[in-house]
Amino acid sequence: MTKLVWLNGVVSPLESATTSVADHAHLYGDGLFEGIRIYSGKVFKLDEHLDRLYHGCRYMNFAMEISKSELKEIILQTASQAEAVDGYIRLNVSRGSGLGLDPKAVKTAPNVMVMISTLALYGAEAYETGLDVITTSFRTIPADSLDQRLKCIGRYATHILAKAEANRAGAGEGLMLNHQGLVAECTGDNIFLVKDGVIKTPHASCGLLQGITRDTVIEIARRNGLVVEETLLTRYDLLEADETFLTGTAAEVIPMVTLDQRLIGDGRPGRLTKKIIDWYHEETLKGTPIPAYASNH
Ligand SMILES: Cc1ncc(COP(=O)(O)O)c(C=O)c1O
Repeated sequence: MTKLVWLNGVVSPLESATTSVADHAHLYGDGLFEGIRIYSGKVFKLDEHLDRLYHGCRYMNFAMEISKSELKEIILQTASQAEAVDGYIRLNVSRGSGLGLDPKAVKTAPNVMVMISTLALYGAEAYETGLDVITTSFRTIPADSLDQRLKCIGRYATHILAKAEANRAGAGEGLMLNHQGLVAECTGDNIFLVKDGVIKTPHASCGLLQGITRDTVIEIARRNGLVVEETLLTRYDLLEADETFLTGTAAEVIPMVTLDQRLIGDGRPGRLTKKIIDWYHEETLKGTPIPAYASNH
């Protein structure tokens, strides 16, 4: 695979792609993004990621000139040109370029980027042994400031600070509570627990990104006859759980085995967690096929 970037219509190698220094996401975080995985030559949940992105564009009032179906085609063609089999797509849309906070200062169409690359969040061993997680001191941004459904670039400054705090504590991830002290999510993943055979995850209103992996796991678990509740959870619930795990496009499904240095269950990846990991891997093979590379030669 060759790492490629499609940027406003021009395809370049990843190392040489450049954008305007006046890009509003670069200057103010005024942009949206998606991270999407490619498994075995197929893009997983492509329509769902595009739907989230375009809902965000409408909310942010970005003057997108590229339609959803055009962007889908651009993504598939760029992935084909990169000869991607397994990889990670980073999709960025900013309001456009212009100096000054005022959206009226932005005189260009949105800057749109499709990056075909790779990404591994945690080492392979963590998927076998599970992650240690700490509760960070950073709360998620309340919906009355920035709706959690927006995968807004600016939001991530908080998450990066939370991740750095987890790093300093030697933990693999940082748990973020919402402004009421309820469990929201981790820095780049949603969180689930299993208690007495029932799967629970914080309700979407608890200040979290409504992850596409989260939705997929809920759907797969229910399809397999398990009960899933979207509810209000506290740290107490996590510490009392039999199993916990995290989900995200980049993270996939990964066991969490301690919180604040206290074991969850027996401190090993749980039985249902392992089943869900297997089911999730089967599901990832159902993506949108990338057109054959041969068409580029
Ligand atoms: C803060 C946050 N929560 C949750 C997720 C998981 O979302 P998804 O499953 O759509 O990748 C992400 C993914 O990037 C994230 O950044």
